[in-house]
Amino acid sequence: MPVETIAWKGGKCVYIDQTLLPHKIKFVKCGDIRTLWKAIRTLQVRGAPAIGIAGALGVVLGVKNSRSETYGGFKKDIDRAVKYLASSRPTAVNLFWALARMKRIAENNSSGPVARIKKILLKEALKIIDEDKRNCRQMARYGSRLIKKGDTILTHCNAGGLATADYGTALGVLFEAARQGKRIKVYADETRPLLQGARLTTWELLHEGIDTTLICDNMAASLMAKGRIDKIFVGADRIALNGDAANKIGTYSLGVLAKHHRVPFYVVAPLSTFDLNLKSGKDIPIEERDGDEVRTILGKLIAPEKVKVYNPAFDVTPNELITAIITEKGILRKPYSKSFEKLKAYNL
Ligand code: MRU
Repeated sequence: MPVETIAWKGGKCVYIDQTLLPHKIKFVKCGDIRTLWKAIRTLQVRGAPAIGIAGALGVVLGVKNSRSETYGGFKKDIDRAVKYLASSRPTAVNLFWALARMKRIAENNSSGPVARIKKILLKEALKIIDEDKRNCRQMARYGSRLIKKGDTILTHCNAGGLATADYGTALGVLFEAARQGKRIKVYADETRPLLQGARLTTWELLHEGIDTTLICDNMAASLMAKGRIDKIFVGADRIALNGDAANKIGTYSLGVLAKHHRVPFYVVAPLSTFDLNLKSGKDIPIEERDGDEVRTILGKLIAPEKVKVYNPAFDVTPNELITAIITEKGILRKPYSKSFEKLKAYNL
């Protein structure tokens, strides 16, 4: 991992501003919930697990100055912080998972003094970071078993270290395969409109010395038609009970292409990305973002200023297009609703 994506240092949340990468490395020391909310909304901090971590640290920042002396008053401050952070972005369920976990730990310790509950909240947020690091390594170990020596792999958006506290979900698998000496080649989709693939994924892959080729999103089909892609690995923002998986817009088209060209299509995600309360992907809320993200490229207007724009940030890949889902607990296969049964034991 080239940099530490998000951490807690000296009483502040320190994160790298991902909107400036790869050409400028700027760490932001954030001591207030509003700045962190904005960082999530504007994708300075992005990627499902990293958004979850930011949410947990955001709760810590949101209640640090609370003067409430009783749990009743303090709970209102927690609820306010949680509601506010929950309004930052709607799709990655890791955010809501982390916020619910922060609420739960406070509730479970509500009999103690408020100062103690504040310390417990920080401890829980740090625990979420540690778990994320371990989960990345575990997913990488499982996922790397699916990769053969010399495989050429396609990935979309950024599911790397910048999206997590460690070295990522889908990219973590690729890093581990490379570490095992499998000599892989990777094609990275640029991922319009915000170019996470071009700016972030290629940066991470090159840093690890992996043979990396950048393509525009519309080039994937022709590569697959030529038989030049062996496998596809992507991350996810929310996975429903039937295995439908929301991820960065454009992932669904890769799933369709993969099926047509008989290329295995793998989703890599920790259990914090599963939303087993949702029966199918139809129920996953899809974020729609400002049209200017499409009218412009890196701030430069490329289309008529007044043209209408459709800008969903995510799409849903139906379960039947997904060959397997790799989690920190193992590789899950179809039928997903059945293989998810055993995940219920993990209190999702
Ligand atoms: O809008 P973003 O950049 O937050 O979207 C990120 C993605 O879609 C990632 O693929 C997903 O969060 C998985 S990250 C391990």
